[in-house]
Amino acid sequence: MNQHNNIDRRAFLGMTGVAAGTTLAGAATGKTPLGSNSLAPGDDHRGVACISSGNGRPATSKAYEMIMAGRDPVDAVVAGVNIVESDPNDMSVGYGGLPNEEGVVQLDSCVMHGPTHKAGAVACIEDIKNPASVALFVLKRTDHVMIVGRGAKQFALAHGFKAEDLLNDRARKAWLRWKENSNPNDDWLNAEQMDFDPNEGREGAMGPIPFTYGTINCSGVDANGDLASVTTTSGLSYKIPGRVGDSPIVGAGMFCDNAVGAAGATGRGEAVIQNCGAFSIVREMENGLSPTEACLAVMKRIADRTKQKRLLNERGEPNFGVTLYALRKDGAYGSALMRGRGNFAVTTSAGTRHEACASLFG
Ligand code: GLY
Repeated sequence: MNQHNNIDRRAFLGMTGVAAGTTLAGAATGKTPLGSNSLAPGDDHRGVACISSGNGRPATSKAYEMIMAGRDPVDAVVAGVNIVESDPNDMSVGYGGLPNEEGVVQLDSCVMHGPTHKAGAVACIEDIKNPASVALFVLKRTDHVMIVGRGAKQFALAHGFKAEDLLNDRARKAWLRWKENSNPNDDWLNAEQMDFDPNEGREGAMGPIPFTYGTINCSGVDANGDLASVTTTSGLSYKIPGRVGDSPIVGAGMFCDNAVGAAGATGRGEAVIQNCGAFSIVREMENGLSPTEACLAVMKRIADRTKQKRLLNERGEPNFGVTLYALRKDGAYGSALMRGRGNFAVTTSAGTRHEACASLFG
C-alpha cells in the first residue's frame, strides 16, 4: 500500500469516528456533526494544493504557480508569503507590520521542508522586511534551526538582505494612537484630553485600536506529495519588546512532516505554543482525523486547557481568537477557528478562492 492509500485509509477511519457521533464540532456546539461533507470540502480534495490564512490569497496563488512549474514547495511557499510581507497595507506581517510597545517592528518566522525534515527560523528580527526568506537561509545555509534578534539581522545582512525602516506611516500612526490611549495618567494625551482637534493633519478617527495577532501561514504540497510550510508575522501588536509568539516556533506556529502533512496557526500565539498547536494537528492527522477534524481537535484542546479567568468569557470559553490550518500529504486540507465566521485562502486546479473555516464554538 503506498503512502497516499495509507493516508486515505486513516482518514476514512477518522471519518467513521465522526459519523459515530464523536465529532468535535458537535461536542463543542451541540450542533450537527461536521463530517467529510460540504461543510468541509477540502477534506475530500486530492492533489496539488496550497492553503493559507485569509490574508494569503496572493501567497497561495504564487506558491501554486511555482509548484506547478516544478519548483520545490519550500521555495514556493516562501515566495508566496514574501508578497504579503512586502505589502505595506498588510499590518500583520513584514513591512508595515504593527510595532512593539516602543514603536519598533520585530518580526518572527519559521519554515519547514518536508523531504529533508529541515527547519529554519528567525525571531525578533528588526529592519529586514522578509523574515521568511531569512528563515529559509537558516534552513538551507546553516546547521542551526533558529537565530534571534541582533544575530538574525547580522545573518540576514551577511546574505545580502537590505536593512530598512519597517515602520511605515500607517503603522506609526496606529502605534501612536495606541500609546495615547493606553494610560489615561501619562503625558501622552488621548483625543478627549487634548485641547486641539486630534484629527487635524491625521488620517481617520482617534479611537483606541485593539491588539492584533495578525500572521500568515502558508503550506503547499506538490504532485509527489512533498510538503512545505511557512509562517511569518509582526506578532502581537504593541507587545513587550523581545516577546516571541508561536510563529517562529517549529511545532507551534508551523510544522511539516512529509509522511503525513503540514499545519500552521494564526491568532493568540501563547495559546498555540502551550498546546504545541501545529505539531498536534499533524499528529491528529496521522492518527486518522481529516484535516478539518484535526484542526477542531486541537482547537478543542486549546479551549479545554485555557484556565485563566481573564482569558475566558461568561460561558467559560476562550475569549481570544486562534485559527488553525492543515494540509495532508494527499492534498486534503481544512481549517478551523475558535468561534464565529472566517475564511482561509486555497489554490488548487480549481483556482484561488476563500473557503469557510469550521468553527469550534459556532
Ligand atoms: N500568532 C502570532 C503571534 O502570536 O505572534
